[in-house]
Amino acid sequence: MIVDERIAAYIFSLEREMPEKLNAIEKQALADYVPIIKKPTQSLLRFMLRSLKPDSILEVGAAVGFSSILMSEYMPENCHITTIEKMPERIVKARDNMVYAGKEERITLLEGDAADILKQLSDEGKSFDFMFMDAAKGQYINFLPDIMKMLPVGGILISDNVLQDGDIVQSRYGVTRRNRTIHSRMREYLYELTHMKEFDTIVLPIGDGVTLSTRI
Ligand SMILES: C[S@@+](CC[C@H](N)C(=O)[O-])C[C@H]1O[C@@H](n2cnc3c(N)ncnc32)[C@H](O)[C@@H]1O
Repeated sequence: MIVDERIAAYIFSLEREMPEKLNAIEKQALADYVPIIKKPTQSLLRFMLRSLKPDSILEVGAAVGFSSILMSEYMPENCHITTIEKMPERIVKARDNMVYAGKEERITLLEGDAADILKQLSDEGKSFDFMFMDAAKGQYINFLPDIMKMLPVGGILISDNVLQDGDIVQSRYGVTRRNRTIHSRMREYLYELTHMKEFDTIVLPIGDGVTLSTRI
């Protein structure tokens, strides 16, 4: 955790309850060790959706559908979510959860590798004004060109897990050998987001670290 645990717990104590079915999906996902968005990221998404009122949402990394179902609670009536997942057992669970939450009409789950699906969507000329990147951290940088093609001016890209539980500030040799590639790719991604002329980006030290990038 990047933020002091007691501060995070206090902030959370001020939050309102989520709908009961979302609580149940979250509880099951945590019990099954599925990595889902943390409370501060949940609140951020809720707030951003209510403020920006997007027309269409693209999520990369559905897992068992928790964050897409959460977003569907707070998005406008006519908004639709497209989400992508490649692990077969998570796809099955995500579909079950979407039916359980009564959201299967509002969320389209695309099955397969995001690298291929993003390319296909961008080749088809699709556009999404609210994007949530929450897949394999080392791949964010590879997804960026297709993401850019689909994000209109004024649209927003939210990327989760960008500070890697604080490891991002370590030197390359301060992280385990296994994590070095992800570490350098995430640093490259953060540098790109914060220096590209097409984006205005802020990095927020909440949850596992989140960036908000608006297309200018
Ligand atoms: C952190 S989890 C997503 C959690 C989800 N957004 C939530 O909060 O409920 C990341 C998911 O991305 C999926 N994933 C990772 N790389 C992917 C890729 N290249 N294509 C499709 N899915 C991918 C993983 O299988 C995993 O289920």
